Amino acid sequence: MIEFTVNGAARSVAAPARTHLADVLREHCGLTGTHLGCEQGVCGACTVMVNGAPTRSCLIYAHEAAGMEVTTIEGLDEDPVAEALRAAFSRHHALQCGYCTPGMMMTARDIVTRLGAVDEDRIRDELAGNLCRCTGYRGIVRAIAEVAASRPASAPLPRRAVPLTPPPAPVIAPSTPMAALPNRLEHRETLAIPLDFAWAILSDPARIAACVPGMTLLRHEGEAVEGEMAVALGPFSARFAGAGTLTLDAATRTGRLRGQGRDGANGAEGEVEWRLEPEGAGAALRVELAWRLTGPLAQFSRPALLRGVVAAMAGEFARNLERQARGEAPAAQPGLWSLLRAWWKGLFGR
Ligand code: FES
Ligand code: FES
Repeated sequence: MIEFTVNGAARSVAAPARTHLADVLREHCGLTGTHLGCEQGVCGACTVMVNGAPTRSCLIYAHEAAGMEVTTIEGLDEDPVAEALRAAFSRHHALQCGYCTPGMMMTARDIVTRLGAVDEDRIRDELAGNLCRCTGYRGIVRAIAEVAASRPASAPLPRRAVPLTPPPAPVIAPSTPMAALPNRLEHRETLAIPLDFAWAILSDPARIAACVPGMTLLRHEGEAVEGEMAVALGPFSARFAGAGTLTLDAATRTGRLRGQGRDGANGAEGEVEWRLEPEGAGAALRVELAWRLTGPLAQFSRPALLRGVVAAMAGEFARNLERQARGEAPAAQPGLWSLLRAWWKGLFGR
């Protein structure tokens, strides 16, 4: 039995322990306004509020919401912010088939009530975890911006008082061979700087770390390195603290970093090998990566998505390397979602 509050009413539902919250809402509570798209945490169609925080209901077991307040799209009928958003969505043509709309509305309401007046770039970042396959985002972003600018008064939904039960901490084998890591990627970047300049940076751990989006080097002693890596992808963000081994070979201009890290329930293990080669007056950087993610962040393990993220990071790494060689500071660290968007734009020009 799961006992919780749904849209202000106490509910008691008998459902198998493995049932996710979206299925309980739709099939046991009859609240079919919560839609299911991907069922793997990517599309955001299933977004509901759990104790006042936007939550993907396909990603949590219903029993994890026991004792909590769940609000679905049906629970926002009388809400003034939702009313303003509905009107703005209609005015700005922010929906066509409407499949994504319940999840969009839940996220939009959270943006408006949490942030108030925000610019369109911030709205796009905040909406990155909600996908729409038919309308395009321009109207959706404009509708939210319009409502956010006027900030209609609303009683806030109750905020999360108790964190959801985290899944068990992942176990990471201390020395899995690179070949055994499940995700692999090769990438090549052309560098607009001479080979020796590039190697001078790629043989210095502090300067390497400064080029990696989100990375902070905490300690470096011999081949041992310790650091932190901030990752923000859609609704998830994590700060991995980890340690590894860095080996460099000046004769072949190659390097290899092997490490593992953890942030609460999220675990990451990986290896990156790089090689510098002459190319015209500049250099080419070949990178081979292998990695494994465990925990909630691994929900985003669609190969195309992860390859996009890694390719975008490699591109940003190369540009930071060029900036360092020119004596400029590395660019401010963008979120991975922003990098992915830039990579996508580069591929498809939109
Ligand atoms: S159905 Fe839950 S995120 Fe797509
Ligand atoms: S309106 Fe059709 S998926 Fe968004």
